[in-house]
Amino acid sequence: MFFKEPNIPLFSLVMSVSSAADMISQKLANHQKRVAFIANELGGHLGLSTRDRQELMMAGALHDIGALSLKERLDALHFELKDGHAHAEAGYLLLNTFAPFSEIARLVRYHHTWYSTCQSSPQRVPFRCHLLHLADRMDVMIDADKHILYQVEDISIILQNGRGTRFHPDVVDAFVDLSRRESFWLDLICLEDEMLYEAASQGSPVVLDTNMLAEWSRMLSHIIDFRCRFTAVHSSGVAAVAEALALKIGLSKKQARLIQIAGYLHDFGKLAVPSEILEKKGPLTSEERAIVKSHAYYSSVLLRRVPEMDQINAWISCHHERPDGQGYPFKLSQDDLSLGAKIMAVADVFTAITEDRPYREGMAPEDALQVLISMSEEGGLNKDIVNLLILHFNYVNALRMEAQETALADYTAFETALQVARPAA
Ligand SMILES: [Fe+2]
Ligand SMILES: [Fe+2]
Ligand SMILES: [Fe+2]
Repeated sequence: MFFKEPNIPLFSLVMSVSSAADMISQKLANHQKRVAFIANELGGHLGLSTRDRQELMMAGALHDIGALSLKERLDALHFELKDGHAHAEAGYLLLNTFAPFSEIARLVRYHHTWYSTCQSSPQRVPFRCHLLHLADRMDVMIDADKHILYQVEDISIILQNGRGTRFHPDVVDAFVDLSRRESFWLDLICLEDEMLYEAASQGSPVVLDTNMLAEWSRMLSHIIDFRCRFTAVHSSGVAAVAEALALKIGLSKKQARLIQIAGYLHDFGKLAVPSEILEKKGPLTSEERAIVKSHAYYSSVLLRRVPEMDQINAWISCHHERPDGQGYPFKLSQDDLSLGAKIMAVADVFTAITEDRPYREGMAPEDALQVLISMSEEGGLNKDIVNLLILHFNYVNALRMEAQETALADYTAFETALQVARPAA
């Protein structure tokens, strides 16, 4: 397997996550990207530096990432939002685990904080949060069923009424200036990813090497998995098993690292699946099953926008393919499957069947092995890799348990911090 040190543009990764999270409902289509766009326009008008605007755009593109359920995402679309702090805090807690995102996490944390509140409270709310706040509330007021220019006056009045209370006066003034341009409004309904990429390409874009990509992927695996308590540590287990198998196959440490990264990201497309379905206790309806099944395809499409991730994308979007051609979504068979995809599939099934699910308890590792053997005999999993797992079972299983214990501690800390932040019901 060929190894090439990756140089992954961080902004492209952020955009793919933003798209995934907004695919969860048509009502949300591109909401986060529009907020990124508006905030960047306001930032430009207010003379913010290129670097500050780049961070602002990334914060805008991910600002609602902490709304873990579909209900929470849709609730955030009401202008008079009852409690915006829980999802803002969750977003902060998740994003803050990736070191380069410490400032972005802070911007997300206060994206619903009123200007008047932070005048009287001791917490330091960065100025850019006020840009995000206005951009967000402006976007939720846009009615997709009416022509945008027909709504300008009504939206402007509401935003100006919040000057000095809900919104920062300087930000409202910048908005008033910008809102005179029809193009500012029309850009929003014609918004294309390229417009954001162009804005982000000014200055020096941040790129990630293997180590930083691993950090990013670990953070993202928490965003994917923490949406459902049954899968809270799933990707951490898959990443550990996949990496261990890769090393036992004889791949280099660097190649095994890429396999580990793929393990963290293998369920990326699940960001587009409502957590209400993932957590459902009873059997899924056929429509719900179809939605869940689509996640592997979504991963493939969403990551195609990051061509530097092509190899990893090929592995993860095939983690539900089977050697006998009965898997999904591409109906590939043994000869078409890459080594990475075969490893992902074994790591995923092994990890999944040892975990509890809403409808069944996790299997003891020894029973799980029997299932893997039967599956490989039926053509459901690659035999060589299953045999390798049997051969090194104690080593691989110990690494899986260790990784999942660490992830469980992270999940518990996240839940506890969120309970503290949530107002008592
Ligand atoms: Fe929000
Ligand atoms: Fe929002
Ligand atoms: Fe999956």
